[in-house]
Amino acid sequence: AFYPILATLAAYLIGSLSFAVIVSRVMGLHDPRTYGSGNPGATNVLRSGSKAAAIATLLLDAIKGWLPVALVHWFGRPYGLGDGTLAAVGLAAFLGHLYPVFFRFQGGKGVATALGVLLGISGWLGLATALTWLIIAYFFRYSSLASLVAAVFAPLYYVLFSGVAWYAEAPVTAAIIAMGLLLIWRHRENIKRLMAGKESRLGKKADTKA
Ligand code: G3P
Repeated sequence: AFYPILATLAAYLIGSLSFAVIVSRVMGLHDPRTYGSGNPGATNVLRSGSKAAAIATLLLDAIKGWLPVALVHWFGRPYGLGDGTLAAVGLAAFLGHLYPVFFRFQGGKGVATALGVLLGISGWLGLATALTWLIIAYFFRYSSLASLVAAVFAPLYYVLFSGVAWYAEAPVTAAIIAMGLLLIWRHRENIKRLMAGKESRLGKKADTKA
């Protein structure tokens, strides 16, 4: 079990790179943990007013979820890495983003990273989930609501349309459901704000003078 453990640990470390913080620091912007929702994620970086920084954060946070899964997919077999490891590295990268070892375990909500993991599992699954996010975000203008709806739909898409019986891919199914549940848990403050009508809409900047 040496290679599976090594791969999972490596995925957790990559996931621990909080790109919202790193990108903001490199671009000379305020730390995203000090304004808006305080969340180190692409949505909150957008509230700084820098679209470029938000897009870079989104892409890098997604890539760190996608890469470990894709690597296991492409090169895992000779090392005995199967679907169990695939599910483990995806979940590990996601957990790294939520609880990053390099940032006192204070991470983000996992939307971009989960999307990357889903893309690594299957291109159409990632695209269908991203499209779900975009449709809700476009009509309701809430990033958090779009993320919550996408988190509910992703496991359904996988179980209903992947073409493989869920029990044949039980570790992958379990990882997708676990990511969805954790993602919802991490949005508990957003859920309260949504229900109180106090959630910040997409495109609204935050006061970053603090
Ligand atoms: O990326 C997380 C998103 O769903 C919500 O972010 O900053 O509005 O809490 P935020």
